[in-house]
Amino acid sequence: MLSGKRILLIIGGGIAAYKALELIRLIQKAGGTVTPVLTRAGSEFVTPLSVGALAKSRVHEALFDLTSEAEMGHIELSRSADLLVVAPATADLLAKMAGGRADDLASTLLLATDKRVLVAPAMNVRMWQHPATQRNLDVLRGDGVLFVGPDEGEMACGEYGPGRMAEPAAIVEAIGAALGGGPLTGKHVVVTSGPTHEPIDPVRYIANRSSGAQGAALAAALRDLGAKVTFVTGPAAVPPPASVTVVPVETARDMAAAVAAALPADAAVMAAAVADWRVANSSGQKLKKDGSGKAPALEFAENPDILATVSKGPGRPRLVVGFAAETTDVVAHATAKRERKGCDWIVANDVSPATGIMGGTENAVTLITASGAETWPRMGKDEVARRLAARIAEAIAG
Ligand code: C5P
Repeated sequence: MLSGKRILLIIGGGIAAYKALELIRLIQKAGGTVTPVLTRAGSEFVTPLSVGALAKSRVHEALFDLTSEAEMGHIELSRSADLLVVAPATADLLAKMAGGRADDLASTLLLATDKRVLVAPAMNVRMWQHPATQRNLDVLRGDGVLFVGPDEGEMACGEYGPGRMAEPAAIVEAIGAALGGGPLTGKHVVVTSGPTHEPIDPVRYIANRSSGAQGAALAAALRDLGAKVTFVTGPAAVPPPASVTVVPVETARDMAAAVAAALPADAAVMAAAVADWRVANSSGQKLKKDGSGKAPALEFAENPDILATVSKGPGRPRLVVGFAAETTDVVAHATAKRERKGCDWIVANDVSPATGIMGGTENAVTLITASGAETWPRMGKDEVARRLAARIAEAIAG
């Protein structure tokens, strides 16, 4: 997948630096070569000796290194690679990148390069969530920096949440996608996500508890495999991923129109929690109490079923995947839903309040295909997304 590709790997200072050793191995296994750069903090966690031995390359550490300048200057070093990868990318390194600082070799290379940069952040959950870090991420996304991870989970510091560096295998996939070598390169995938809002009047609406987290994670995972993603999203709590085409919508009917306009596609993944009904007698003006004590009577009309329409309509994508949020008899209901809607796969999950799945960070899904039901262990929504994206790639690649 990375045959002949040259990766300049910047290893920052964090406990996740040990995973950079595995990353070097996997890049080489995929056919790429690694030129390692170790920050001063990075060298506190992994030694230049182990990095250099694995990479079979000289390890670059200092900005003012005369031998290195004679052999290859830092400008050339930053440009002779096909891609710069920062793993782990610490909060400090991200701040330096966002601020355009160049006070050591790593930050200078990142500023001097004319190549794309992929970063794999790793830090304590509070540092990740801090407004300063989030601000820096926004700046970097705007600069076109690519991200992989972080994952959610237990951290070395004992806390739990987002901040763990993505697994080396996921970083290699993201490298492939960044270099245009992912298995979904050239494929178009439409993803729907989030809830829909169905107006009662101009200020009130009917909605549901979908956060859009699973849909956003899926769009990111498909993008990371090289797909061109059209992300049709209702008003979600989770922001859309970078580098996808975002089509924001409000109502189910808007979503249906946006999906129809986004076709043709190689695959459609309908992760949105679409309202089944809209208010048929919604008001153009704000409804007011008239003092009589009489509540307004809302009438409902059924919304279009986007999944069924796409599955049965003309220009059907090769693979159509639906979701089924159920609270009882998950597999039986979802299996029936697959038949009824005419889609290829259903990703079923139990959203009873006790599971904490709706609006939470984890998911426990059963994948229902023509050949039966496959129950996956409970895992982060990011991991569900990566697995599902890999399965989609298997189904439609080539
Ligand atoms: O029928 P139910 O809402 O349980 O089906 C869920 C699946 O159908 C999801 O994939 C959802 O995105 C899709 N759906 C849709 N249009 C609707 C209702 C659901 O595309 N009006």
